[in-house]
Amino acid sequence: MKTTSPLLLWLPLLLFAWVIESPVAAQQPEVAIPAAPGKSGPPVKPIPPLNGVVPKQVRCLSPLFPLCFNQWHNCPFECANTCFLDCVSCKPVCSCNTPGAVCQDPRFVGGDGVTFFFHGRKNEDFCLVSDPNLHINGHFIGKRNQKLTRDFTWVQSLGIMFDDHQLLVGAKRTSTWDDNEEHLYISFNGTPLSLDGPNWNYRNSSLVMTRTSSTNGVAIEVQDNFRITAAVVPIGAEESRIHGYNITNDDCFAHLELGFKFFNLSDKVDGVLGQTYRSNYVSKVKLSANMPVMGGIPKYSTSGIFAYDCTVSRFARANGTPVTGSGKVF
Ligand SMILES: *[C@@H]1O[C@H](CO)[C@@H](O)[C@H](O)[C@H]1NC(C)=O
Ligand SMILES: *[C@@H]1O[C@H](CO)[C@@H](O)[C@H](O)[C@H]1NC(C)=O
Ligand SMILES: *[C@@H]1O[C@H](CO)[C@@H](O)[C@H](O)[C@H]1NC(C)=O
Repeated sequence: MKTTSPLLLWLPLLLFAWVIESPVAAQQPEVAIPAAPGKSGPPVKPIPPLNGVVPKQVRCLSPLFPLCFNQWHNCPFECANTCFLDCVSCKPVCSCNTPGAVCQDPRFVGGDGVTFFFHGRKNEDFCLVSDPNLHINGHFIGKRNQKLTRDFTWVQSLGIMFDDHQLLVGAKRTSTWDDNEEHLYISFNGTPLSLDGPNWNYRNSSLVMTRTSSTNGVAIEVQDNFRITAAVVPIGAEESRIHGYNITNDDCFAHLELGFKFFNLSDKVDGVLGQTYRSNYVSKVKLSANMPVMGGIPKYSTSGIFAYDCTVSRFARANGTPVTGSGKVF
């Protein structure tokens, strides 16, 4: 007679142990929308300052990630003030150095991990991501550069289209910067949202928006489609001096620092950033260059913040003619 393998005998016990060990949160129904920052979830021990720098503490406030929800983490020193909590890995990440980042005079980190610049043109719109279910345009603002042939540019707003929705996320124009003032502007399907208070959040069917800081930071998610973190930042005096931006007191060029994560891109995806997520993508930027620049500006040019008429467009969701509109937020 065949004897049962000892492993098979153990199996039910192992399974049982796994079930009782698995985190309770996974079985909980939807987590409630966050309470006041600081009030719930004990902060972790701050790391001791290094050269006078005390890293910021961040947490995931998205109810879509119950296992990570509301746990505080310290930012790493290399990005003490600009990290965010990646709800997927549940780790603090330097927002400008991970794939999907768009920061500064726009510097992109592609899905393939390659960093490049795409300067576009000031006061124009460009297709950043274009796929059948998702299309994202960026509105670029800029400043004349006396020395170079191109202008300095930054991404001021995003026009995001998914299903039949249009979401506009932008930085309001401002002369002087105040961290405690709201410079973020959001409208959904043409209706401006009032982002009242540090606990503001918004839910409408598959769209969830939560703050990543009490002002000027937001995480935007559409389940199984994308997650975007956006923070409004000014050009500081120091940054202006280093790069020769010549920022004056009438405009601090508030713009967006962005982190993109995509969960459902097709292999047709295109756009300045989008194409770098294709499995067959071979980077066109000169890697040997000190500052690799992505060229081909006309290919990505689009006629408005909600237009999908760039030549690389793949957006197929909305029927009818491309919509035009200004990406200018005041
Ligand atoms: C959700 O979006 C739809 C379409 O824009 C809008 O008509 C509705 O008022 C929104 N609901 C809420 C609760 O904001
Ligand atoms: C994911 O992509 C597939 C195929 O492109 C599409 O049918 C589906 O609607 C997408 N899901 C979401 C949530 O956008
Ligand atoms: C700086 O900007 C001011 C006002 O826009 C302009 O008059 C001046 O020529 C600029 N200086 C340099 C060095 O570009």
